[in-house]
Amino acid sequence: MRTKVAIIGAGPAGLLLSHILHLRGISSVIIEARSQSYCEARIRAGILEQGTVDMLRAAGLGARMDREGLPHHGIDIAFDGGIHPISIEKYDSGRQVMAYGQTEIVKDLFRQHVDNGTVIITDAEVTEIREIDSASPQILYRREGKDHTLNCDFVAGCDGFRGVSRKAMPTSIRNDFDLIYPYSWLGILAKAPPMNKVVIYAQHPRGFALQSMRSNEISRLYIQVDNDDHVDNWSDEALWDELDIRIGVKQNRGAIIQKGITPMRSFVSEPMSSGRLFLAGDAGHIVPPTGAKGLNLAIADIALLSAAFIDFYCDGSEAQLKDYSERVLRRVWKVERFSWFCTTLLHTDHRHSEFEKRLQRADMDYLLSSDAAMKSFAENYAGLPIEILPDL
Ligand code: DHB
Repeated sequence: MRTKVAIIGAGPAGLLLSHILHLRGISSVIIEARSQSYCEARIRAGILEQGTVDMLRAAGLGARMDREGLPHHGIDIAFDGGIHPISIEKYDSGRQVMAYGQTEIVKDLFRQHVDNGTVIITDAEVTEIREIDSASPQILYRREGKDHTLNCDFVAGCDGFRGVSRKAMPTSIRNDFDLIYPYSWLGILAKAPPMNKVVIYAQHPRGFALQSMRSNEISRLYIQVDNDDHVDNWSDEALWDELDIRIGVKQNRGAIIQKGITPMRSFVSEPMSSGRLFLAGDAGHIVPPTGAKGLNLAIADIALLSAAFIDFYCDGSEAQLKDYSERVLRRVWKVERFSWFCTTLLHTDHRHSEFEKRLQRADMDYLLSSDAAMKSFAENYAGLPIEILPDL
């Protein structure tokens, strides 16, 4: 089998890339290690930057998001017994964010690909990515006990942090940068109307907490826990009590339908391309979840990568493909910085000295009292600019 762009991974990045290429008549095939139902059920973040919303609309994928998503004009910070609003809309020229789950975006994309007639090979294990320095790379994969080869012009590695694509980058040029945090998140989905209309980020001496939502009926809530903690250590009641204490606002309680622990990590692998292999999304970088940047960063990568492929196939220019890694990493590092800032601002780090605790307080004081600081926060929260092709 042969295609122009072989895409590894059917997450939001790979599915969106394939759809945008389809809009310009560029063929692609997606290879995914898991089943479609597994991809559609993965519970991930759910706050979309303005640029992500614009991009999905431009690609014709905005209909259900605009019907069911919940636009947010700002966020609240719970600190020192009070609730402090930061208006994103006011401080970032009317831009907003939208609560709409990654799970829903993946479902919308799979549905779109039925119309597009995209070949999506699920339950396929990529065993090797070959000849990335040639004009005809190959992907070797195994499915139902049989070995297959997919020939292509380019490989887009969109297979997440644990995927195979990054490992195919030549070790001689690859440089990984890593930061592990001394805490994790215990997250729940609950059948309970969210208490607050917008997200609340709580900084509390007992640890961080977050109230978010997936709809007017479903709340998404998190608390900071130690890295070696376990969901079984938390009864439903203990969890709700802890959320109430840390957020300082009593939550609407309801049946907990999902519970899980998320480790926190910042990670960037440089460069994000070599020869004809290009990384996008978590395959190239990880952010800690605070600030909800992971999905948005993946979509911003795809904005650049899809434009570069279109430049190559429609205008015969390799310039954007050559610049991809450098350009994408410039934005990635700024988003890494913001995610790290939100994380260190809001969590309780038991290793911190008294001096560092006071610096953290000063950071919060400054954010909540300075127009300039709120403006900078709002610009990053609603999302740094992404380049959307004008005529998708
Ligand atoms: C959510 C996750 C985040 O990391 C965040 O900063 C805000 C909201 C969420 O899952 O809804």
